[in-house]
Amino acid sequence: MSILFEPYKIGPLTLKNRFIKSSTAESMAGPNGEVTPAMLDFYETIARGGAACIFLGHAFVHPLGKASPKMTGLHDDRLIPGLRSLADVIHRHDCFVFAEINHGGSRVQGGCAEPVGPSRVVNPSTGLLARELKFSEILEIVDAFGRAAARVREAGLDGILIHGAHGFLASLFTSPFTNHRTDEWGGDASKRFRFLDEVYRSIRIAVGNDYPVAIKLGAKDDMPEGLSLEEGAEEAARLAKAGIDAIEISGGIPTKEAGASRSNILSREQEAYFLPYAKAVRPKVGKLPLSLVGGLRSPDLMEEIIKEGWTDFVSLARPFICEPDLVNKIRAGRREPVSCTRDDRCRVGIGEEGLRCRRDENPAG
Ligand SMILES: Cc1cc2nc3c(=O)[nH]c(=O)nc-3n(C[C@H](O)[C@H](O)[C@H](O)COP(=O)(O)O)c2cc1C
Repeated sequence: MSILFEPYKIGPLTLKNRFIKSSTAESMAGPNGEVTPAMLDFYETIARGGAACIFLGHAFVHPLGKASPKMTGLHDDRLIPGLRSLADVIHRHDCFVFAEINHGGSRVQGGCAEPVGPSRVVNPSTGLLARELKFSEILEIVDAFGRAAARVREAGLDGILIHGAHGFLASLFTSPFTNHRTDEWGGDASKRFRFLDEVYRSIRIAVGNDYPVAIKLGAKDDMPEGLSLEEGAEEAARLAKAGIDAIEISGGIPTKEAGASRSNILSREQEAYFLPYAKAVRPKVGKLPLSLVGGLRSPDLMEEIIKEGWTDFVSLARPFICEPDLVNKIRAGRREPVSCTRDDRCRVGIGEEGLRCRRDENPAG
């Protein structure tokens, strides 16, 4: 049997294989962030397709952290029943589900919230200038992460994924490009890490030691003057020491030139573009469960990455949107690359219509 189908643990959970559905904002929630029937269908189809665990699209922990219209919310107890239905449909298919919890910071669209951040700096992903957060506001946000995490556990989901990447609030704090604070929330790498550390602790207190808490970590910013890989790997080591249960390796603050979701993955050389980051993180975290995201297509490459010990899981995002049953197909012996080349037609009109694959639709339509 391929190592891709050997079970492996994250905290107390035994995942049936090594495939994780990485987070993709669904743009399907109701006006207050409620789970909708469209989301239940979307995720049940993916769960049925054989993935061991689904990381839901990012969800906001505080009303002022809503990053985009139709984003899922975790800021209110009234959202718990909807989240419970989502957990139920996914669990029917022997699949786990983690909520990705986030605050948009200055990566906010459509006037959903005021762009805020550690310092008054333009977010390279959105071009929006952040207002500097006050000390009291930072504490309120840290608290909101803990409260949101408690709701996720209450709703019966299996774990938390902290969004620590892609130019949202946590990565704005860790990056020297966007954090110029001179108080206790900024300075050298250890001080810039404080926000993430406090967020992790707030969550841990809220959910307890026996509940899985993972992070999607931007291990390096794709820009000069950004977080270095050495600093990113050091962050991973700090999180491991603090008790995090798993890390999904991604890139930090994307720019218009180098996004974390790269397009047009047409050759094997273009796949797994964050593998060098995983190679830097692995020696710092011992046997902590790691996953790698970004451009993966070839089953034999996924197998090789795991066999060599760089990560224990592989995370795929866009491929599950067009081919939800890709894991079942690989289990049945398919060796050719997954069909999604990341042409990014799934992004077109997502804000209005919700997430779906549009690669076979008329480009003019
Ligand atoms: C439409 C879309 C929505 C995304 N939403 C999220 C999200 O909510 N949270 C997150 O951490 N990453 C998000 N990502 C990034 C993916 O999780 C993933 O890191 C990236 O697409 C690279 O993986 P892939 O090549 O397998 O798609 C999104 C990507 C796309 C294309």
